[in-house]
Amino acid sequence: MKGLILSGGTGTRLWPITHTSPKQLVPVANKPVLFYGLEAMAEAGIEDVGIVVSPTTGTEVRAAVGDGAAFGVSVSWILQDEPRGLAHCVIVARDFLGDDDFVMFLGDNMLEQPLSAFVERFREARAAAATPRLGEPADPPAALLLLAKVSDPSLFGVAECDGTGRVKRLVEKPAEPASDLALVGVYLFDCSIHAAAADVSPSARGELEITDAIQRLIDSGRRIDHEVLDGWWIDTGKKDPLLECNRLVLDMLERRVEGRLDDGSKVEGRVALDPDAELVNSTVRGPAVIGARARVVDSYVGPYSAIAEECEIVRSEVDNSVLLTGARIVDIERLTDSLVGRNTSVSRRRGQPRALRLMLGDNCAVEVE
Ligand code: TTP
Repeated sequence: MKGLILSGGTGTRLWPITHTSPKQLVPVANKPVLFYGLEAMAEAGIEDVGIVVSPTTGTEVRAAVGDGAAFGVSVSWILQDEPRGLAHCVIVARDFLGDDDFVMFLGDNMLEQPLSAFVERFREARAAAATPRLGEPADPPAALLLLAKVSDPSLFGVAECDGTGRVKRLVEKPAEPASDLALVGVYLFDCSIHAAAADVSPSARGELEITDAIQRLIDSGRRIDHEVLDGWWIDTGKKDPLLECNRLVLDMLERRVEGRLDDGSKVEGRVALDPDAELVNSTVRGPAVIGARARVVDSYVGPYSAIAEECEIVRSEVDNSVLLTGARIVDIERLTDSLVGRNTSVSRRRGQPRALRLMLGDNCAVEVE
């Protein structure tokens, strides 16, 4: 079994963060989202992983992942010239995938449950069907789809299943959903997906949809299995889900306080303080993570904060926020529910005139009290 992680795309929903950096490298609890996917692949025993990148995401993603050895996998790079849809990713990965079964995983998605149980279930179902009982036809599943119950199915690809657990129909963002089961970003396929993907035409939004390719398999009589997740699943491609994912991952954090604290500082609860981080006259209340060479001075860092390396927080209060590398927060009474980009500075200037002074990139959002 091989792995295919999709790490191209445009990331418009995370502008302006994704103007300068791929969204799959945005950190959750100070670790890029993509790394969780690579670790999940390794845990499931998948050694060969192809990563689809775009001309804009490629260089940075490659530099961050290297050859995959750090994750216990071997990585092959697959360039997709334009984000032409998930079925297009399968098409460009054809040579890498060969005729092997594979797991396709969206590089900005995160699952609570390990992949291994799903990989094992697909393997077993295919092996069992390869040696059917006497008189029964061989009917190996062509795919196993991971589904999650959602409250707003019209925003997702929705699956309709029959009583035997087979998927009968997939509809992309239906106006009147027939079920509350949405496709999450994890799919297991056999090689029949290649012919199906090659056969689809662009949808109304101009993409080659993986749902259309799977529907072709269903229409040709192939068996499509599904599994409903009971743990959480998050598409981290927007700010609020990203903060929610950060909270869920920080909830599993173990306390590891290795940085420097002066006499006026304290750390309460589950906090990971990097050995090179420094607290001066400050309090950090977990769950929170503070990265290498970060400095917190005369400040309070509250629950569900992920402060990346080289950040500086001075005379401020921060909670439920993700700060990327080198962000500076100075003299801010309370910063909450925020995502702050790399080397971005938020500070207060006293004196006249009392006014906001901004230097903002395109597509930013600022909420002033
Ligand atoms: P999406 O989040 O659906 O698409 P996007 O990255 O273009 O983001 P936005 O809607 O904010 O503009 O993509 C899901 C994942 O699949 C994500 O990790 C990017 C990746 N992807 C590709 O690698 N190639 C593609 O053609 C598409 C559509 C997505």
